[in-house]
Amino acid sequence: MKILAFNSSPRMEKGATDILLNRFLEGAKYAGAEAEKIFLKNKKINNCIGCFSCWLDTPGVCIFKDDMTEILEKMREAELWVFGTPIYHDTMTSYLKTAIERTLPFKHPLFKKYKDRTIHPWRYPEDKGKHKMVIISVCAFPEKSHFDALSYTFKKISINMEVPIVCEIFFPASMLLLSKKGARYTDKFLKAVYSAGEEIVKKGKISAKTKEILNKEIEIPKRHFLLMANRWWKKRIKLG
Ligand SMILES: Cc1cc2nc3c(=O)[nH]c(=O)nc-3n(C[C@H](O)[C@H](O)[C@H](O)COP(=O)(O)O)c2cc1C
Repeated sequence: MKILAFNSSPRMEKGATDILLNRFLEGAKYAGAEAEKIFLKNKKINNCIGCFSCWLDTPGVCIFKDDMTEILEKMREAELWVFGTPIYHDTMTSYLKTAIERTLPFKHPLFKKYKDRTIHPWRYPEDKGKHKMVIISVCAFPEKSHFDALSYTFKKISINMEVPIVCEIFFPASMLLLSKKGARYTDKFLKAVYSAGEEIVKKGKISAKTKEILNKEIEIPKRHFLLMANRWWKKRIKLG
């Protein structure tokens, strides 16, 4: 299986998104997958300007000759897309949104009925059923509900693209992933992230046991976490 992973955190290797992405890819590679990770911050990707040239003038080809040209080729080759993003203002970062908007050349303009919606069909019939996606995210606040808007957005993107989501991996209270003291709250989850990578490559889906661990709320008492987080911030605020 070929995997193309995206890290859309501007903090790249220093962030918590990368911890989850790496763990997932380690499991996937152990199961025999070939994986590449792209840091979107390092890429030159123009915003889609809605000119529809990729639909009307040069079908399937965008007017911009930037790093997205190669990324689109790699996306078509890969069977699994792993979208890694921190929560920024309740959803994905602009780096990822920009890249996703630029996948418009993958679609054909004519409307079609699909499930309970109207969508644009995938341009390449030979790719039918080839791709799947995994969504990986972290956020600062401790409740899993902070991923609701992201999850909803990707569910709709999945329908629009006719690319199923095989797994969502969301870890709140990202501070716990970034500090040594957090290990007791993150160890089990990180093992499940590794298993998810391995299971998706081997079986095309994750087991009920892995899913249960991934879906659980974090175990740290909320009050304790709040005090810890505020202590961390207070130490760093420059008063002068
Ligand atoms: C501009 C911005 C917006 C953010 N918005 C949210 C938010 O809506 N909810 C939340 O829980 N965390 C929010 N965060 C916190 C990040 O999700 C958190 O710091 C995360 O660890 C960043 O990912 P990274 O460590 O991979 O860079 C925001 C951070 C930034 C910089």
